Amino acid sequence: MDPPVDPEWVEMRAPRGPSAVLLMLLLAAGCADAFRPVIIVHGILDGPEQFRNLSAFIQKVHPGTQVSIISLYNCMESLKPLWEQIQEFRKAIEDIMKDSPEGVHLLCFSQGGLICRAVLSTSPNHNVHTFISLSSPLAGQYGDTDYLNRYLPGCMKKTVFLFCYNNLGQKLSICNYWNDPHHRDVYLKNNTFLPLVNGEKPHKLMKDWRENFLRIKKMVLIGGPDDDVITPWQSSHFGFYDNSEDVVDMRNQQFYKLDTFGLKTLDARGDVTLCVQAGVKHTHWHSNFTVFTNCIEEWLV
Ligand SMILES: *[C@@H]1O[C@H](CO)[C@@H](O)[C@H](O)[C@H]1NC(C)=O
Ligand SMILES: *[C@@H]1O[C@H](CO)[C@@H](O)[C@H](O)[C@H]1NC(C)=O
Ligand SMILES: *[C@@H]1O[C@H](CO)[C@@H](O)[C@H](O)[C@H]1NC(C)=O
Repeated sequence: MDPPVDPEWVEMRAPRGPSAVLLMLLLAAGCADAFRPVIIVHGILDGPEQFRNLSAFIQKVHPGTQVSIISLYNCMESLKPLWEQIQEFRKAIEDIMKDSPEGVHLLCFSQGGLICRAVLSTSPNHNVHTFISLSSPLAGQYGDTDYLNRYLPGCMKKTVFLFCYNNLGQKLSICNYWNDPHHRDVYLKNNTFLPLVNGEKPHKLMKDWRENFLRIKKMVLIGGPDDDVITPWQSSHFGFYDNSEDVVDMRNQQFYKLDTFGLKTLDARGDVTLCVQAGVKHTHWHSNFTVFTNCIEEWLV
C-alpha cells in the first residue's frame, strides 16, 4: 500500500531531529534482511554454466539473494561485436532493475566487464549500486595468449592490429578492446568501441555517458598477476602499457587525469576499490571462494 521509499532519498531530505532519526532507523531495520539483487554477466567463450559456483557462494553468505546470470551471447556467440551484444544485455539488465527499486549489483567477468561498463554509460536511469569487475580488460588487451590465439587469426600480437583495426576485425568482440600501444593512432581512429567507452576519443555523448556511469555508488576492480589471459593484468585495474610496454597505473592514465568517463570523480569520491589476488588463473576467478571472500562478499549488501 505504501509507495516505495528510497532510503537514501530519506536520508538526504529528512529534517534533522529525533523523529527523522527514528524514521531512518526503522527504514534501515526494514531493509536489513533484504540483499540487493545481483546480476552476473559472463565473459568471452563462456556462459551461465560457469557461474554456478559463484551463485552458490552468494547464496551461502546471503541466503535468499536474487541472483540472475544473464544467458545471452554464450560461448561462440560471445565473439560477436560488443555494441550488438550491449543492446541485448541492456534490455535484460533493465528488466531486472525495473523490479528492483532498491537497486542492484552488477558483477561482470572478463569481457563482460566491458559490456557492463558500456551498459552503465548508455543507461540514463540505471540503478546499479555497486559495479564489480572481475578480471576485465578495462583498459584493453595486448597479448597473444594461447587462449586468444585460437580465435585471432594473426598469431603475433605485433600484427593483430592489421586484422583488428578495420571494418572486418571490428566485427569480432576481442578486436573491440584490442589496444595496441604501438599503433595508438589507428586504435583511436578505427577501434569503434574502447576509445569511446574510455573517452579517449571525444564524442558528442561523452558528457551524458559520464553522468550515467557516475550513477553507480561503488566500483570494485578485481584482478591479479597470475591471470595469464588479461594482458597486461593491470588492465583489470585500468592500468595499461605505454609505447615502451611499461605499465602505467590507473591514476597516471590520460583518461583518468582528464576524467573522460568519470573514473577520477569516482575515485575522488572514495568509491573505487582495487582488489589484487595472486595465484588465480583467468578461468578460476569466479569459482574461487577465497577471491569471493576477500574481494566480493562485503560489497553485496
Ligand atoms: C583504418 O580505417 C581506414 C578507413 O576505413 C582504413 O583505410 C585503414 O586501412 C584502417 N587501418 C587499418 C590498420 O586497418
Ligand atoms: C584462489 O585464490 C587465492 C587467492 O585469493 C589463491 O591463492 C589460490 O591459488 C586460488 N586458487 C585457485 C584454484 O585458483
Ligand atoms: C563448483 O561447483 C561444483 C558443483 O557443485 C563442484 O563440484 C566444484 O568443486 C566447485 N568448484 C569450486 C572451485 O568450488
